[in-house]
Amino acid sequence: MDYFSESIKQAIRTVPDWPKPGVAFRDITTVLQDKTAFRKLIDAFVHRYHGQKIDAVAAVDARGFIIGSALAYELNASLVLVRKKGKLPFDTLVEDYELEYGTASVELHKDAFKSGDKVVLVDDLIATGGTMLAATRLIRRIGAEIVEVAAMIDLPDLGGSRKLQEEGLQVYTVCS
Ligand code: PRP
Ligand code: ADE
Repeated sequence: MDYFSESIKQAIRTVPDWPKPGVAFRDITTVLQDKTAFRKLIDAFVHRYHGQKIDAVAAVDARGFIIGSALAYELNASLVLVRKKGKLPFDTLVEDYELEYGTASVELHKDAFKSGDKVVLVDDLIATGGTMLAATRLIRRIGAEIVEVAAMIDLPDLGGSRKLQEEGLQVYTVCS
């Protein structure tokens, strides 16, 4: 891990047994509150995609929005919101998935992308990979192309990033 990743990692707070016993919750609010760490985080993503043709950044509800909006702005790309079920007002597509602690569904507006758009999908964290995988299915159903699946944190013991790679997706994470 490089100096940038290491210093971002230092700023993450791990809260044991939250939201339920056995879960080590990675709290990113401490990164966001640290202006140096937050800037390094966004810079890491911008550096990764700078100079590439990226039409849109798709960001996952809710913590992915924080990274995704800053990244889309810097890349001069569109920002598309992949939301939890029941939050989007127009016609949607839905995909169900399992979480490390529960089940959920994600939704996407049917007109979120043009066919062939090149998309970076962003979230704060990959645990089981269920959320990201469901989001990739939504994006592909609309006919957009996923350039890469990107997250600030990978929890490799939960196997999500490996599962995404096995599905043929390119995966980038800043720290693990
Ligand atoms: C968290 C996290 C990712 C997802 C990762 O979101 O922000 O989106 O879980 O888990 P997975 O890889 O096992 O799918 P959460 O569903 O807790 O929602 P929140 O962002 O609204 O808190
Ligand atoms: N989402 C799923 N697992 C998580 C964890 N351990 N910390 C933060 N967000 C999560």
